[in-house]
Amino acid sequence: MIRDPFGRPLKSLRISVTSRCNLSCVYCHQEGVEKARSEMTPEEIQRIVEVAAGQGVKKVKITGGEPIIRRDIVEIVQGIADVKGIGEVSMTTNATLLADKSQALREAGLRRVNVSLDTLDPRIFREITKGGELDRVIEGIRAAVDAGLSPVKLNMVVMKGINTDRIKEMIGFASENNAILQLIGLMENEYSREFYSEYAQDLERIVRELEEEANEVLVRKFMQNRTRYILDEGEVEVVFPMHNTEFCAHCTRMRITADGRFKPCLMRTDNYVDFLGPMRAGASEEELERLFLEAVSRREPYFKKPLGMGEKADGVKDEGNL
Ligand code: 5AD
Repeated sequence: MIRDPFGRPLKSLRISVTSRCNLSCVYCHQEGVEKARSEMTPEEIQRIVEVAAGQGVKKVKITGGEPIIRRDIVEIVQGIADVKGIGEVSMTTNATLLADKSQALREAGLRRVNVSLDTLDPRIFREITKGGELDRVIEGIRAAVDAGLSPVKLNMVVMKGINTDRIKEMIGFASENNAILQLIGLMENEYSREFYSEYAQDLERIVRELEEEANEVLVRKFMQNRTRYILDEGEVEVVFPMHNTEFCAHCTRMRITADGRFKPCLMRTDNYVDFLGPMRAGASEEELERLFLEAVSRREPYFKKPLGMGEKADGVKDEGNL
């Protein structure tokens, strides 16, 4: 398995297949990139996944924009799932178009989905997404579960004064629908800066409340030390990446932008490695592999611990949790 200069193994790809979206969520970090001008074809996506798989990558998450907006999304999933060595293909979606597609996606090799859902109030949902219809999303979630996509995780971005008082309700909804709730701390980047300053919620308080109520608290060692709380209403996982050195220390993914560049870190826009240009100009497998390795060598934890006495410089230390 290939490692970056900080000793972190590279295990997964997160591929944006389009930066277009049918919603425009107020907090959206746009995966940290400007809108793409061109998109990769299913063949180009498959080819770059082959390169990564050749270096030991085993998991691929498809993201957007909204991936299901692409008419060839089933073909894209199939192409990725067919690559030797890829054991898991998943997708992050807003689920508005999922109801009609979940079966075909499953048959093409999609294993699991993460659905962005921040509220169960149709009016608030419309405000957050600028016009989205909550019913479509709920239909999409149910269809995904029925199609056997598993687990279905619900991504709830926690926003002060918008949905912090509805976490229990959401845990209940997730568990009734055989889904798992994932609370995500609001992130700040150049596409979400203004919103962040107003709506970032201190997650400490929420975590303390969950701890008090939980029957059991589990730490997922291999998933950036995410914490899981088991409550009477169901279970909930908490992810907060901002200023979280543990999160970065356990990051094992490489991002790919919709226009075909490796993006070593969600938070940075200054260290891309373009591969689509070279690929379209006829680059060989060796050349693409070299570009991938170059991108891996640019990986660096964004939030780093200050170096303490006797601590290793790679910052990979298993201690504490989120
Ligand atoms: N902070 C935290 N999470 C975000 N997402 C999008 N923008 C932000 C942000 N500013 C999450 C959404 C979506 C996933 C792709 O990224 O929950 O599910």
